[in-house]
Amino acid sequence: MTDDGSVTIHLPEWNEQYHSKHGAIAEAIHVFIEAGLEHWILKNPKHEISILEIGFGTGLNAFLTCLEATKKDLQINYSGIEAYPISGEEIRQLNYASLLNASEESFLKLHQSNWGISSEISQNFTLSKREQFFSEIKDSNLYNVIFFDAFGARVQPELWTESIFKLMFEALKPNGVLVTYSAKGSVRRAMQAVGFSVERLPGPPGKREMLRATRV
Ligand SMILES: C[S@@+](CC[C@H](N)C(=O)[O-])C[C@H]1O[C@@H](n2cnc3c(N)ncnc32)[C@H](O)[C@@H]1O
Repeated sequence: MTDDGSVTIHLPEWNEQYHSKHGAIAEAIHVFIEAGLEHWILKNPKHEISILEIGFGTGLNAFLTCLEATKKDLQINYSGIEAYPISGEEIRQLNYASLLNASEESFLKLHQSNWGISSEISQNFTLSKREQFFSEIKDSNLYNVIFFDAFGARVQPELWTESIFKLMFEALKPNGVLVTYSAKGSVRRAMQAVGFSVERLPGPPGKREMLRATRV
């Protein structure tokens, strides 16, 4: 249970969580919805948006994005990459729909959709879940926004490197943005080394800063 009442998954062997202990929903809204999706919408009047998520995990970011798509009448194509999908038992214990006053059925739809194909979750939101490693992503010039939500560099340093950010840079369209909860100096420098222009922004509850990288 995190500080805003939303649950997350804890990995005891790594002492790592899928979300911030200071609030899973609060972090997801601040980092991915506000600094990522809303920032994109402000800068780009065309409301057809293509998003790549690094680490589909519990589906929380996808669910919040799906709700925003309906609320703001956007057309969102969302690709979620995940090498280790969570179990049915874990899905049943997630309390996001009730906390967000949203339908449990639509949350479950995200998890029940098949891997490897595109599924229409709502009129405003299409989801493609791909079961693969981040290092295998070969997308080029496809996305407006990347939600970079890998486990922290403390436990998976290999995912916060120039080689991974180069794949992210390639996957974005020009002017595309990548947002992440991390604010580490080494992460910012790796992003800059592959060509991103990087901003430090105020972080979610419990964190001073976060990063937004733009493919200029
Ligand atoms: C911080 S969690 C993602 C949280 C997720 N965005 C959510 O809202 O629940 C990181 C995710 O990356 C996945 N993962 C870890 N290493 C990976 C890799 N090398 N390739 C693909 N997925 C990986 C984990 O299984 C986990 O679901």
